[in-house]
Amino acid sequence: MADQIEYKVARILLSSEKIRNRVNELGAEIAREYEGKNPILITLLKGGFIFLADLTRAVEIPHEVDFMLIRSYEGKRSTGSVQIVQDLKLNIEGRHVVIVEDIVDTGLTLSYIREHLELRKPASLIVCTLLDKVETRKIEVKVDKVGFPIEDEFVVGYGLDYRQHYRNLPHIAILDPK
Ligand code: IMP
Repeated sequence: MADQIEYKVARILLSSEKIRNRVNELGAEIAREYEGKNPILITLLKGGFIFLADLTRAVEIPHEVDFMLIRSYEGKRSTGSVQIVQDLKLNIEGRHVVIVEDIVDTGLTLSYIREHLELRKPASLIVCTLLDKVETRKIEVKVDKVGFPIEDEFVVGYGLDYRQHYRNLPHIAILDPK
């Protein structure tokens, strides 16, 4: 029988309405900047799947999407090493790429992926993250678009998990430390 799971959330940090408005703004901005460029929006799974699903519908110009499944986190800590479990299907050489991230924390994951994708010679590459924990950076990495800067608290919901749960919350919440 499956374990009984109970979600314990301390408080809501960002409501679904707030997220929706900001995602629409980011989408409109990307559409304006990439008009006629047929960009590829790439998200890092699993965390980015909900953000990408909403962002792609807010980018009202022709574009493609692709996914990369990576593993870098165990529970609440970054392991520091990033493993590409499943690579992109599209060739990004000469293409305009937007990496769509759920959250940048230490920066280790993004720094690895950014450098790795630059080697494939895209025409351009930027990073659009929904959340940015600016204070917890361990490595400097360029983040071009940020939905919301946030404090150093462990957050869940809207794709973000704690031990594979909470991804389905429509808002971003702070996990109850107990
Ligand atoms: P970084 O390598 O430390 O920057 O971590 C990036 C990845 O760690 C994100 O893509 C998330 O999957 C995960 N992560 C970092 N902070 C949080 C958090 O507060 N909640 C849930 N996942 C997080």
